[in-house]
Amino acid sequence: MKIIVSKRIQNLPGYAFAEVDKKVAEAKASGADIIDFGVGDPTDDTPEFIRDACKVAIDKRAGSGYPSYIGSSEYRSAISRWVNNRFGVILDPETEICSTIGAKEGIFHFPLGFVNSRDYVLCPSPGYPPYGRGTLFAGGIPWFYPLREENNFFPDFTRIPEKNQAKKIKILWLNYPNNPTGKTASIEMYFEAIEFCRMHNIVLASDECYSEIYFDKPPVSLLQCGDGDGMVVFQSLSKPSMMTGYRAGWVMGDSRIIDVFKKVKTNIDSGTPTFIQDAAIAALQEPIHVSDMRREYQKRRDVLIKALTSIGLDKCEPEGTFYIWQKVPKGMNSLGFAELLLEQCEIVVTPGEAISEVVADGTNPGRDFVRFALVPSLERTKEAAKRIKKLKF
Ligand SMILES: Cc1ncc(COP(=O)(O)O)c(C=O)c1O
Repeated sequence: MKIIVSKRIQNLPGYAFAEVDKKVAEAKASGADIIDFGVGDPTDDTPEFIRDACKVAIDKRAGSGYPSYIGSSEYRSAISRWVNNRFGVILDPETEICSTIGAKEGIFHFPLGFVNSRDYVLCPSPGYPPYGRGTLFAGGIPWFYPLREENNFFPDFTRIPEKNQAKKIKILWLNYPNNPTGKTASIEMYFEAIEFCRMHNIVLASDECYSEIYFDKPPVSLLQCGDGDGMVVFQSLSKPSMMTGYRAGWVMGDSRIIDVFKKVKTNIDSGTPTFIQDAAIAALQEPIHVSDMRREYQKRRDVLIKALTSIGLDKCEPEGTFYIWQKVPKGMNSLGFAELLLEQCEIVVTPGEAISEVVADGTNPGRDFVRFALVPSLERTKEAAKRIKKLKF
């Protein structure tokens, strides 16, 4: 038979990270000693006490059964305690928190609850692809707003939206600490976003899954700003606890929005396995592994920044996340610089253009940047720094 693929799938551009993976695979196949700063997946082991908690939970829950798709009450209570300790905000685990299968699942499915055909969703460019992809799968239209250096890598609310589109915008996505720019949010920016969303009746969705990776002071959360009306925050244990493979995340905030999201979720999946939720509880209760992780990323960040500035590149120091959004040399673009790094240094980075969309003025805000994900070990980062210092451009 003839396989007829939906227009939705046919029209999708290639997944940016898959293309990066392909280039790495080709270089590796040719025997290159690749140092991979491309995909943002921590290579460090999940801490032992978390793995142990998971092992114990598997036996404790021998008769497995479907997990609770919204999260066990123990998991949601542990989240509520963590949020209170970290941000001083009190959330009701019953109505204001819902488990997700990592943040990605929640982010991708979220628009299904709020977006009708041809409604708009405001997404950052550069930005994490599922904001836009989830919108497209829900039948909506992603409207990409630029994150530019001259505006502190914040949205410029005076430029979005076009007046005639305002009524059709259903969600504004924010992501701070920001992947890829490394920028953290200010309270003023969050209040501006709240005011903008109130004015146009837009759901404000803040992806804060890098909130625990910072180098100076702990970033603020949207939850600490305003009265919580019309807003939600997405969180994840993937990055702070090196649990990407576990798929443990959650969404929290306005109970009316959480309620809608739960309706979406009951129709889609059966939740994160309960033994993993148990391991996630152990992670949430132990802060030391998180500060260890922070120190480690800081060391890698500092080594790499020193090397990059030593060859004359602009100093691009992230305030949070494990990314460096490095401006490329004058006269080059992101793809060209990424290729140069691969050819001369056997270093893989993500070209800014691959994680940015063209915005209203026809430009691609990622064109002059490459992204380093600080996932190789300190030793490998030092080796990368040595190679970068010899780069000719
Ligand atoms: C900005 C951002 N949000 C969400 C995620 C997804 O994280 P998770 O592993 O929890 O699905 C990522 C992963 O790289 C990310 O960069």
